[in-house]
Amino acid sequence: MKRFLLLALLCAACMTSTNAKTLVAYFSATGTTRAAAQKIAKQQNARLWEIEPAEPYTAADLDWRNDNSRSSVEMKDPDERPAIRMCTDVTPYDTVYIGFPIWWGICPRIINSWIDNNLPQLEGKTLIPFATSGSSGIEEAEAYLRKTYPTLQWQKGSLRNR
Ligand SMILES: Cc1cc2nc3c(=O)[nH]c(=O)nc-3n(C[C@H](O)[C@H](O)[C@H](O)COP(=O)(O)O)c2cc1C
Repeated sequence: MKRFLLLALLCAACMTSTNAKTLVAYFSATGTTRAAAQKIAKQQNARLWEIEPAEPYTAADLDWRNDNSRSSVEMKDPDERPAIRMCTDVTPYDTVYIGFPIWWGICPRIINSWIDNNLPQLEGKTLIPFATSGSSGIEEAEAYLRKTYPTLQWQKGSLRNR
């Protein structure tokens, strides 16, 4: 009986602990996507991982009105791959949510850096994009990701604007 109780308690502990099979990886320049990612991680009982640039974005870097700002320059060049501060080990996860703010209709290039860094480990995993934006939808970003990484298993994404 004691052994049964111990087993039941252990099972309950496993069920309430973080779902080690799901990862919520996100980039957020000003905090909106971070809040959305935290919410998803809580709902899914998943691990949370912030994709941080080696060089943080300043307000001037994010000025989309300035053609020469860092974000404008990066988004004009499809091959741009901003460096990431720390690598992620995606191997333990089956499902990976990938979150980002919409920049010029699609994902910021740092998302490409992260995906490129984690290929081929992302192959075969279920990938679910999510985004926040001023007003744009996520459809263009989803189409871009599917086209750029056709061998990855993309699921329908969602916009997480409040
Ligand atoms: C460089 C840049 C480009 C952006 N481009 C778009 C866009 O094309 N469409 C849109 O609706 N919002 C755009 N936005 C607004 C962001 O997507 C929005 O504020 C987002 O929620 C910010 O998320 P964050 O706080 O996680 O960085 C842009 C913002 C920046 C800084």
